[in-house]
Amino acid sequence: MVSSRCCAGLWVLAMLLACSAGCQRAEPVTWDSSEQVQKLPEELGKIVRDAVVRQSGTALEPRLAGAATPRDEAGRRRLQQHTALGQAVYNKRCVQCHGVSGDGAGAVAASLYPRPRDYTKGIFKFTSMPYGSKPRRDDLLQTLVRGISGTSMPSFRLLPRKELEAVVDYVILLSRRGELELQLASEAEASEELETETIDDYVTTVAERWKEGSGLPTQPLTPQPELTEERIARGREAFLTRGCSKCHGEDGRGHTKDNIGRDAWGFATRAADLTSGMLRGGQEPLDVYRRIMNGINGTPMPGFRSALESEPDTIWDLVSYVLSVSEQRRLETVAGKTTIPAGLIKPYVEPEPVADGGSGDSAE
Ligand code: HEC
Ligand code: HEC
Repeated sequence: MVSSRCCAGLWVLAMLLACSAGCQRAEPVTWDSSEQVQKLPEELGKIVRDAVVRQSGTALEPRLAGAATPRDEAGRRRLQQHTALGQAVYNKRCVQCHGVSGDGAGAVAASLYPRPRDYTKGIFKFTSMPYGSKPRRDDLLQTLVRGISGTSMPSFRLLPRKELEAVVDYVILLSRRGELELQLASEAEASEELETETIDDYVTTVAERWKEGSGLPTQPLTPQPELTEERIARGREAFLTRGCSKCHGEDGRGHTKDNIGRDAWGFATRAADLTSGMLRGGQEPLDVYRRIMNGINGTPMPGFRSALESEPDTIWDLVSYVLSVSEQRRLETVAGKTTIPAGLIKPYVEPEPVADGGSGDSAE
């Protein structure tokens, strides 16, 4: 324990020194294989590692698994520059937390709660898409711009747009690499062999799944109503009768004795304290609407789409209630108030659409 802490400390120090000598250059140059691959018999492990290198390249020459190479030289060069920029931004600003290969095990990760996302499972929490879907590229961009409040994930809104676009595509590249590696390793472990056709199938499946991210985001079934006191009261009723309070507690604080669980990454997780004033998935009504409809990927928070689809009004009631408890503590501590003025909750504004994709898939 002591020595691993000490090592982490040295690492941070080493990285800081490297950074002061010019962070762009001090790139870590290898992607380690996952533990699952390391556990495979020698020969199978090699087949998996080779397949992953063929598809995703190496840390020195990264590639998006399953994507076509641009046909003309200019396109290839643009893509290469875009990827190199993404990697440089990532290795400067994200690697300490998310790790060189995106496995969430950066030098400072162990001391953080929640843990930085391990992208290699291909699961993302705060998206606008139905439960189980891949995120839209815009969802990831929005996370970068907003940060995740109440966690150590910072906002990168001051970065130039070009860098944001590039680093998002690099995150997708790492995620697709990790996912492919994971699937191939599981297959190799289960069937004790790995045929070329099987590998090709997995490459296609992973690439296809990411196309979901170009689908349409979840939109409210009915327009956003005015958030009134009555609505908040109805929302509280629904919160208590529809099962929310079982996990989040009657007061929304999540202080229930059974509030324990594990997430898809194997870490302990708890139903959110909705009163903390820091909703991780965003404070806008539409954000909360989507959390309730879609659930939160990789966590015990279920989607309520099928339960509430036929009562669109109840969804807005719940949104109103969640937003009211979320604001309440802040208001209480500031002004001793117990309710929120409806005007405090602003109407949702769609984020600016992302110009000029630049994703490796579209191969320009
Ligand atoms: C100080 C640590 C830290 C740094 C630096 C950091 N992150 Fe994060 N990041 C986190 C944590 C913690 C989470 C998980 C929050 C949660 O689970 O609610 C996260 C989550 C994410 C997610 C997942 C969101 C989702 O919907 O699941 C993405 C994408 C992401 N970070 C990208 C980045 C990128 C890109 C950078 C660099 C430009 C970066 N992060 C830098 C800590 C960090
Ligand atoms: C089985 C337990 C469970 C039930 C039932 C449940 N939740 Fe959750 N909820 C969670 C967990 C766990 C999280 C935190 C996920 C994470 O970020 O790791 C969460 C997160 C949330 C969030 C996001 C908070 C944020 O920080 O952005 C909202 C909003 C929410 N729940 C509302 C509801 C509502 C409304 C209901 C009932 C309709 C409900 N939940 C039912 C477990 C549950």
